[in-house]
Amino acid sequence: MKFNVNDFTVEEKLKLLSGYDGWRLYMAEGKLPEVRLCDGPSGLRDEQQKATAMPTISVLANTWSREMARLDGATIADDCVEKGATVLLAPGVNIKRTPLCGRNFEYFSEDPYLAGTLGKEYISAVQEKGVGTSLKHFCANNREHCRLSQSNEIDERTLREIYMRPFEIALQAKPWTVMCAYNMVNGVYASENKKLLKDVLRDEFGFDGVILSDWCATQNAYRAFKASLDVSMPASTDHYETLKRAYDNGWITDEELNERAANVLRLIEKCANAQRICATDKETRHKNAVTVASEGIVLLKNEEGILPFNTPSVAVVGKCAVNPPIGGGGSSNVHTDYKQIPLAELLQERMPTAKVTFGDTFNWSPRHTQIMNAAYTSAYHADTVLLCVGTDNVIETEEADRETIRLPLVQEELILRTAKVNPNVVVAVYAGSAIDMSAWIDKVKAVVFVGFAGEGGNEALADVLTGKVNPSGKLAETFPLCLADTPTGSTHGNSFVERYSEGVFVGYRYYDAYEKEVLFPFGHGLSYTKFSYSDMEIAKRTETDYEVSFTVKNEGDTAGKEVCQLYVKDVFAPVSRPEKELKGFTKIALAPGQSKRVTLTLDARSFAYYDVVNGGWRVDGGEYELLVGASSRDIRLTEKLSLSFPENEQFSQYFNYKT
Ligand code: BGC
Repeated sequence: MKFNVNDFTVEEKLKLLSGYDGWRLYMAEGKLPEVRLCDGPSGLRDEQQKATAMPTISVLANTWSREMARLDGATIADDCVEKGATVLLAPGVNIKRTPLCGRNFEYFSEDPYLAGTLGKEYISAVQEKGVGTSLKHFCANNREHCRLSQSNEIDERTLREIYMRPFEIALQAKPWTVMCAYNMVNGVYASENKKLLKDVLRDEFGFDGVILSDWCATQNAYRAFKASLDVSMPASTDHYETLKRAYDNGWITDEELNERAANVLRLIEKCANAQRICATDKETRHKNAVTVASEGIVLLKNEEGILPFNTPSVAVVGKCAVNPPIGGGGSSNVHTDYKQIPLAELLQERMPTAKVTFGDTFNWSPRHTQIMNAAYTSAYHADTVLLCVGTDNVIETEEADRETIRLPLVQEELILRTAKVNPNVVVAVYAGSAIDMSAWIDKVKAVVFVGFAGEGGNEALADVLTGKVNPSGKLAETFPLCLADTPTGSTHGNSFVERYSEGVFVGYRYYDAYEKEVLFPFGHGLSYTKFSYSDMEIAKRTETDYEVSFTVKNEGDTAGKEVCQLYVKDVFAPVSRPEKELKGFTKIALAPGQSKRVTLTLDARSFAYYDVVNGGWRVDGGEYELLVGASSRDIRLTEKLSLSFPENEQFSQYFNYKT
């Protein structure tokens, strides 16, 4: 199928720039095939149809696995093919600037490289199945509070290095569409922001797909048109009339209109001509949901090897054990028909000789004292207690931010009181973002961060708790000691302008720069085995391209997977730079006693910062350190590296997209 813009009237072309309805593009009275846009990102979300509820993106990010990002994307795409969705409105690669953001569960990380890299794999996997994606929300949508009216005031370097960077990386997978954010950036709505949409996204990043508005994000269709927005969603006669008036007045030229309409026609063509492939059935997709979740679950603490369970009896307590929050609230909410099997049953199946009891759901009812008493009684009589606590899709949801990063107080009370009657407490936490655990973490033996792990979350958790799966997830965001310790403090962004005054010091970049203690650092996650790192070597390919190799050995007697992380430190930078920045990672599987040589590559961008004076990326000659670690605060190997550039290159290497 091929469409020519000249075959369409001015009215039709203008109508192409807004939806046909809430979810479909304009069809020109049957001249064009249907293109149906559906959310994303933790499964196909369609009000009318059931689909596989995959783990949320935050859990996927905790896998630190390109392979899992691909499996996740491919599984969701299969649902899209089977159920007729043409473009998946996902993934979102916005940075987790504050753990309060109600939508953090939909986003990957506080780190642009990790977010962009996993986002890229997810996009490739979806599109290889003939389903389009929408990389969202461009850009700097980092809070839900006042998202339609707030301006995020961000300096140029921070914008480039932190907030645009994950998009720049994910764009390498060529998403068919990009969705702009609701918020303003430096006083101009993202939908009307020529610098974002035209100068950067189109001209510098070379994006040639369709730029969509977020739903109802277009404030003024004419201004948005001028800034390069192609399609305002959902359908709106107001948009059409505004654009028609602008065209009739000569404010929009035929050339401009043809260019925008042609962009949309190309997308429709691509969708119509795609080879849509569904390779799985519902059961396989459910298994994939369990697999991704089991790699995304993070073992945060494990004293005295209490996990995996090897105990005569376990009392399971907490409503998440029977009714786990499988996702957060809002547009990513997937309708699944999967019936949860109670966690106690899943554990009993895997531990046939142990006595597994279910204490109570403890579901915050008015009877809560009575229920709590029942929970304590079962906890008191068991050898080990598993407490399943967390937030839910009301606390963590689109359109609102959290007010606290602590668990609901009644749950903290449950943990503290249970720990008084039983010394062997394991806590499983279900949440979409970081939790302040300081009130209780010292009183319990183990903590497992489940996240919002989708319909297969509790099966995956049962596998991890019983050792069927050795945990291999690591945190894609820092868990701070408390809210006041975070870069944005405990402020809620209540004004119409949010100043990003911490600059590039977001997440671990902030805690490192200010030497702050954290509860669990970025990249942290335990295993049932131990890994050692040795023999680091750097092989130079060019002045800015290197291969960094090292050996990782599984020192224990359990097979496991390790996420190896490579950070770069600029030792004497002329601008304020983070202590270190993630520039490479991989996840490897090792049998007991096995070792493997790992090689990660670095290129010029691994050393570069954004030079606001010259308007481009720059690598300075000078001293760098390459740090290999098991987390951002568990660096195992370090090597020094000197880069040098000749005088006629001004001792630096510059990249300017425009020249
Ligand atoms: C969200 C988008 C979503 C769209 C359509 C908006 O509220 O911000 O992420 O794709 O709705 O549901």
